[in-house]
Amino acid sequence: MARRSVKTIRNDVDLSSVLKMPDELPKPFTPQLLFGSDAPLELEIGSGKGMFIRKAADQFPQHNFLGIEIGNKFARLCAARLLGREQHNAVMVCGDAALILQEYVPDDFLEAVHVYFPDPWWKRAHRKRRILRTEVLQLIEQKLRFGGALHFWTDVEEYFLSTLELLKERTKLLGPFDVPEKTAENEDDYRTHFERRTRLHGGTVFRCEFKRNNDCGTANEKNGETGRRKSGQTGNLTQA
Ligand SMILES: C[S@@+](CC[C@H](N)C(=O)[O-])C[C@H]1O[C@@H](n2cnc3c(N)ncnc32)[C@H](O)[C@@H]1O
Repeated sequence: MARRSVKTIRNDVDLSSVLKMPDELPKPFTPQLLFGSDAPLELEIGSGKGMFIRKAADQFPQHNFLGIEIGNKFARLCAARLLGREQHNAVMVCGDAALILQEYVPDDFLEAVHVYFPDPWWKRAHRKRRILRTEVLQLIEQKLRFGGALHFWTDVEEYFLSTLELLKERTKLLGPFDVPEKTAENEDDYRTHFERRTRLHGGTVFRCEFKRNNDCGTANEKNGETGRRKSGQTGNLTQA
């Protein structure tokens, strides 16, 4: 399915309270400075048009939400959807999720990571550009708190199955746990824009959830290395 054009948010709209560039994030990461609270933090990778982050932040006011979107136009659109809310529990960052995870997010920290319909990079030679590659899956594992969850949905069966395989082989996350499809009676019953689009076109959505175990350790132990990685010791995240 081809992408429709994205609505442009005018430059004179002040998004500064809900849209940050990576170098504006507090380092060391201090949720108080970003959200004004230390509530559990959920992170979305690739927020697209912002349907999930806006709805989730409204639905779970007791949590904070950080959306990461690499496309400037999309990040601005997501941020615009967050403007004017009474509660300041959702912020967008415009940047590469892999680098932001690696450089800003403390270990054992996140309540949940959400990845919905990541770009599939269809050609075999381009698959190393996928956001859910080994290094990033291991980073997600490292950044989740004990008991924290990874939510991954896609309409690309091959991406789904190969990611399940990587999670099994290269991380200690528990799963996959099944996520049943909800009947959609209105717009709000879809989690993201891509879920709505896929289902309205009769496509299949593959959904799973993984959890970090209490003594999860990391994939390094599984691969025969000892000890837990420290921040910054993950593989090279830069794409070829
Ligand atoms: C296919 S869209 C899905 C959008 C949304 N999650 C949905 O389900 O409607 C994938 C999104 O991920 C973003 N993206 C791709 N690579 C990214 C990265 N490394 N970091 C953050 N966002 C990324 C793209 O710009 C795009 O908006």
